[in-house]
Amino acid sequence: MKIFLDTANLESIKKFNDMGLLDGITTNPSLMSKEGGNPKNAMEEITKIIQGDVSLEVVSTEYSGMMEEGKRLREYGDNVVVKVPMTPDGLKACKSFSSQGIPVNVTLIFSANQALLAAKSGAKYVSPFIGRLDDIGQDGMNLIKEIKVIFSNYSFKTQILVASVRHPLHVIDAAKIGADVVTLPPGVLDKMLQHPLTKIGLDNFLADWEKLKQKNPDTEI
Ligand code: E4P
Repeated sequence: MKIFLDTANLESIKKFNDMGLLDGITTNPSLMSKEGGNPKNAMEEITKIIQGDVSLEVVSTEYSGMMEEGKRLREYGDNVVVKVPMTPDGLKACKSFSSQGIPVNVTLIFSANQALLAAKSGAKYVSPFIGRLDDIGQDGMNLIKEIKVIFSNYSFKTQILVASVRHPLHVIDAAKIGADVVTLPPGVLDKMLQHPLTKIGLDNFLADWEKLKQKNPDTEI
């Protein structure tokens, strides 16, 4: 399963990229706004740091505006995936970009039918938002299961990019279903790195090493 980071924060992107964990990045207008700086600089930097796919989102809501913005976004790098909303104009833009060999991520997917239509339009990725479904009392992970079955039934090449991930259990469940990608807020990836027994174990190893050094002061590795 590929891991993308769901952020426009350069510090987090560098931190996890240096650990070799990142296969790509997803951003959206809210994430850009959260960082506060000039989004152009952020997009330029992110596409330089990350070799894999970087989803950059259009903000136009009609077809021709989406096409113009998508083309401008692609100037940041060949690894840019144009992110369009799940609307009729978004799917029309998806079809046009895909026919030109430009990869598209269709975002704001909340039903299996929407995912099916986005796949038919040639999307490279569909982004079902599982956390936001959980928030309104619907089972977000069930949507991932449904899309997985539908895409397998018809051998769609479109990848399932699990979005709106809220906690590490979402990641395990998505991996068990066989989702292609999860996009994670930095906080979730941080939590996945940790286990209390790892910390206790390391503290004990280091304490025992100190005892050994007291008996044999010249000891070193
Ligand atoms: C996906 O590409 C979106 O950026 C993201 O996962 C949205 O998640 P949220 O519900 O935490 O805003």
